[in-house]
Amino acid sequence: MRSALRWAGYLAGGVIVIAAVLAAYIWIASNRMLNGPFAAKHENLSGATPEMVADASRRLHVFGCISCHGDGMRGSLFIDDPHLAKLYAPNVSEIAGKATDQQLAAAIRQGIGVDGRALAIMPSAQFSRLTDGEVAALIAAVRKLPSGGAPTPARTIGAMGRLGVATGKFRTQPQLMADYVQQWPADLGPNYAKGRHLAATVCSECHGPALDGAEVKPGLKSPDLDIVGAYDLAAFTKLLRTGIPASGKKLTLMDEVARANFSHMTDEEIAELHAYLVGRAQRSN
Ligand code: HEC
Ligand code: HEC
Repeated sequence: MRSALRWAGYLAGGVIVIAAVLAAYIWIASNRMLNGPFAAKHENLSGATPEMVADASRRLHVFGCISCHGDGMRGSLFIDDPHLAKLYAPNVSEIAGKATDQQLAAAIRQGIGVDGRALAIMPSAQFSRLTDGEVAALIAAVRKLPSGGAPTPARTIGAMGRLGVATGKFRTQPQLMADYVQQWPADLGPNYAKGRHLAATVCSECHGPALDGAEVKPGLKSPDLDIVGAYDLAAFTKLLRTGIPASGKKLTLMDEVARANFSHMTDEEIAELHAYLVGRAQRSN
C-alpha cells in the first residue's frame, strides 16, 4: 500500500514536471515569435506625388487605419480576452511624434513595430503590396494628424494566445508575409492593373492573398471574390457603400468594413475594382 502511494506520488510529480517543461517551451517559443526583436529592412520612400499626398487622409479611411486605430488614430482596444490577449490598435498619432518615417514604414509594410516586435492583426502582409509612394503618402497623412493623447498600453498575450502562436494557429504578420509573396490575384494585364492593385491591398486581408476566400475567424468565412461576377456596377457600388449585398441578406463583418472603410472609395476606384473582379470571375469560368 505504501509503495503504491509512493509510485502514485512519483507519477503525479512527473506529470507536473512535464506540464511545467511544456509551459516553459510554449512561453519561450511564442516569445521569440512575438517579440523578436526583429530588424526591419531599409524602406525606399520616394515617389509620392503631391496628388497622392493630398488624397492620403481619405485613404487612411479606405485602408481601415482609422476604423481600427480610432478617431485621429488615437488608439482603440481591439482584443480584450484574458485567455487570448489584451491588444490595442495603438495610438499612432502619439507614436508618430517619436518615430522615424523608416519605423512607421516598417510597421505598415513589414509588420515590425517601432520596438522591434512582430505585429499581429495589423494587416501589414496585405500592405506589403503597397507601392513606395503609397506608403510615403500614408505616412504624410499620419503626420498631418494632431499628435498626442496618452500612449496605449503594451499588448499582453494570454496562455491560449501563446499556445496558438507557438503551434502556428495564430500567425504574426511577418509570418503571414510569405503567403502574400507567393499567392497573387490573377494578373489580367495593364487595363485591369489598377483594380487588381486595389483588390490586392484592400480586400486580400479577409478574402485571402489570391482573393479565393479565407476563414476570417472561427465560424466566419469570406467567399472567393468570383462572386462579384454576378454583380453589376450599381449593385457592387451599393454593397461597398452600404454593406447591403445583391441578395439583400444581412452581412456581418463585410457590412461593418463596407460602411466604415469602403464608403470612402471614389466612384473611379469602385469602377476599377469592379472591372477587375468581373474580369477575374470570367477568366475562372
Ligand atoms: C484590422 C485593424 C487594423 C488596421 C486596418 C490597421 N491597423 Fe495598424 N495596428 C493594428 C494593431 C492591432 C496594431 C498593434 C499590433 C500588435 O501590437 O501586435 C497596429 C499597429 C500599427 C503600428 C505600429 C505601432 C507600434 O506600436 O509600433 C502602426 C504605425 C500602424 N499600425 C499604422 C497603421 C496604418 C497607417 C494603417 C492603415 C494603412 C493601419 N495601421 C491599419 C490594427 C490595425
Ligand atoms: C475585414 C474583412 C473583410 C474585408 C477587408 C473585405 N471583406 Fe468582403 N466579406 C468579408 C466576409 C466575412 C464576407 C462574408 C459575409 C459576411 O460578412 O458575413 C464577405 C463577403 C463579401 C462579398 C459577398 C457578398 C454576397 O453577395 O454575399 C463580396 C462581393 C465582398 N465581400 C467583396 C469585398 C471586396 C470587393 C473587398 C475589398 C474592397 C472586401 N470584400 C473586403 C470580409 C471582408
